[in-house]
This record gives sequence, structure tokens and C-alpha cells, in this order.
Amino acid sequence: MRPIYLGVNIDHVATVRNARGTDYPDPVTAAAVAELAGADSITTHLREDRRHITDRDVRIIRETIKTALNLEMSVNDDILAIAVALAPHKACLVPERREEITTEGGLNVVAEESRIKAAVDKLSAVGTACSLFIDPEREQVEAAQRTGAPFVEFHTGRYANAKSEQDKARELGKLSQMAALADSLGLGVNSGHGLNYQNVAQVAAIPQMHELNIGHSIIGRAIFTGLDEAVRTMKEIMLRARAQASLKD
Ligand code: PXP
Repeated sequence: MRPIYLGVNIDHVATVRNARGTDYPDPVTAAAVAELAGADSITTHLREDRRHITDRDVRIIRETIKTALNLEMSVNDDILAIAVALAPHKACLVPERREEITTEGGLNVVAEESRIKAAVDKLSAVGTACSLFIDPEREQVEAAQRTGAPFVEFHTGRYANAKSEQDKARELGKLSQMAALADSLGLGVNSGHGLNYQNVAQVAAIPQMHELNIGHSIIGRAIFTGLDEAVRTMKEIMLRARAQASLKD
């Protein structure tokens, strides 16, 4: 049985802080609590408009983290320069549009291969392991491999937003097939976006899934149960799903 890891995205702790312009709740504290509860890495998106996570947040988290910092970032020159100086353990390259509420789709690696490869090369040179956030599509997986990035992260939004059981099964099938393809090409496979306590088990059961990056549902639950419980419960569901799936093999 392959292990499965949980990356906790703490951006929305910063969203609450920034809504009032206060210095609390602090995402730095959230990172520490999430780690103590079993998070395997801490994921943050330093957006170009700094709507939640700030430069100060990523700098302190990078200095104090005990697990690994996974920096979500666009392939913008300014952000890339910050990332290269920060040298996070991992970076997930994502498309970014100012008007979007959250990341809406995967990168078009096929169309932007050379620009993305250049960013992967710069980050790899400082020891950062890159993943490319893509939709689970064959052409994108193959292009991702050509960039030399060691990981892909599949956008699970279409699976999470599927309205009917039929659509959900179809999207899950794509994730499963593309995970197998990526794995066969030597890529590590992560996933994220829209995963929650009700829909995560099926994704965690896909044997090639290495790490799931989950934010909104965990921080939303933490309002009622505390962050410790919210992280522990998510991780338990993932580990149980992986163990049960491996018994069926
Ligand atoms: N992975 C990536 C690349 C993302 O952009 C996001 C959203 O910031 C997530 C994972 C987490 O998504 P969610 O907050 O819906 O769990």
C-alpha cells in the first residue's frame, strides 16, 4: 500500500484576518496547529493581489515549519523571484486571474510549455520540487512530464462540483485513469480543489494519489470544531479510504 499525505491549505485563515485588517487569526499559528494535528505539509497561495496570504506570512512559515511548505504560485516574474529567494520545499504552479474567486482551471501546459519549463528549472535549481496544477487530461499530463516537473496536481473541481452521480463517476474515472498515466510516466500525483469530508474518500482510494491539498472545507469545519479536530478527521478519512482500497486489490 502506498502512503497518502495531507497538505492543509491555510489561506482562508488569512482571509478572515484580512477582512478586518487585524493581525489575527494568524496563518502562522494555523500552520503550527495543523502540523501538530498531523498535516504532512502546509499549502499557501501567495496571490499576485495578496488577497489573503502575504509575503510576511510565507516568510515566517518557511522559517518555522517542521514539515514542508508547498507554495502555490502563478508563473509571474515577481512571484517567481520571491519563490526563488524563499526556496520552499515544494511549489505548485497554478494559473491565476485577478477576477476569479478561486483557482478556476488547470494550467495549459501544452500552450505554455517553454514558459512553465523555465519556471520549473529556476525553482528546481534552489531545491524546490515543483508540481503543475492541471486538469486530468492526457495531453496536459504528457506536457507536464516534458517540463521536468516531478509532480502534477490534478484539479478536482469538476469532480467536486459534479451534480449527478453519473457525472461524479465520470470525473472520478478520469482522475483515476490520468493518475495511472502520470504514475507510469514517472510523475508523482497530487490532487486538490473542492475536496471535503463527503467526497475525499473516493479520491484518496486511487492508489497513485500521493498528496491531497485541502483548504476551504477544513478551515470551514474548524470554525465549529477547532482546527485540530478538522485536520485529524480529514486525515483519518483519507487513511481509512486508502487502507480499505488496498484490501480490495
Ligand atoms: N490546490 C490548489 C492548486 C489550489 O489552488 C487550491 C485552492 O487554493 C487548493 C488545492 C485547495 O482547494 P480548496 O480550498 O477548495 O480545498
